[in-house]
Parts: sequence; structure tokens; C-alpha cells
Amino acid sequence: MILPLCYFDDPILRKKALPIQEITPEIVKLAEDMIETMINQHNGVGLAGPQVGKLLRIFIIRDEYILPDGKWNFGPPEVMINPQLSEPFAELAVMSEGCLSIPGIHADVTRPVGIKIRYQRLDGQLVEETVSEFRARVIMHENDHLNGVLFIDRLTPKERSGIEPQLRAVKKKYRNS
Ligand code: NI
Repeated sequence: MILPLCYFDDPILRKKALPIQEITPEIVKLAEDMIETMINQHNGVGLAGPQVGKLLRIFIIRDEYILPDGKWNFGPPEVMINPQLSEPFAELAVMSEGCLSIPGIHADVTRPVGIKIRYQRLDGQLVEETVSEFRARVIMHENDHLNGVLFIDRLTPKERSGIEPQLRAVKKKYRNS
């Protein structure tokens, strides 16, 4: 089922999401719906619970792979539940980010190159890995959503004011239901 998205001035995007106590059939269905919504409807690489109106610590990501011929491809969707990030790399990187809740806007965001993550998969298995580059970027962006943070919050005041007109246009165009 395709879920409606919450757009950037929706107050739910500013709230802290709650831990998932148990991976119930409802959570499994939510994850499936989020995957369908992210891929089939929006062709995105990340979607977090609050973006579909669920204040729960869950997000979906797709990694990307560069093939030997230089072309890239999406990896399979992955579900991350109750993620905990720690030990960010000291080295920073600038990468262009966008967000399904802020359609059409992209901006360069500075974040650590990598970080450690612990999370549960949909089958409950606990995973611990050190991620870097694109994978780390998507995970950090989505994890921000669980804490009420949007990528536009990470811009400098000057960059932020530069995209204000676009943000106003998004606000006008995408109404929250
Ligand atoms: Ni986003």
C-alpha cells in the first residue's frame, strides 16, 4: 500500500520518534508499505517513519553500487529498526542531499564520512556495522528524521536563506493532509 507523505512544515517531522518495542505484524506491514512507497511511488533511497506519519524509530534505505563500468545501481531495500549511531569519523564530506518530504530541493550538506550503526532487521536480528560514503550518508539523513531533524537544518544560515523561496514554494504546493 502506498502511504501518503508528510511534507516539510508538518509538525510530526519535528518530533522525536519512539523506539519499537516489538516487531509485530503491524510493524512488518508498515515496513513493506514504506518500501513500496519509497521505491514504487518516489524512487527514493531513504524513508523514515515520521515521513509517513508514524512516530516510530524505523527507516528504509537503499544503498547504491558502482559497477566496474562506472554505472551505478540501487541495492535492495533494507529495513533498520531502533538504529543507534556512534563513533562518527573525524573526517567530513560534503554531499548533495534531497528529501522526499521536501520535494525538488537539493543542497550540499556536510557530515562525517562514516559512522558506526547498530540496528535490528525486520526479522529481529541485531546488526552492527561501520558504514561510510553513500551508505553512511543515507543512514545519517534518515536517522536525523527520527530525531526531528531535516537536512535543511544542517545548512549554514546563508545557504538556508538561499533556499527559502524554494521552501515557500514547496509549502504552497504540497499540503499536508
Ligand atoms: Ni529525508
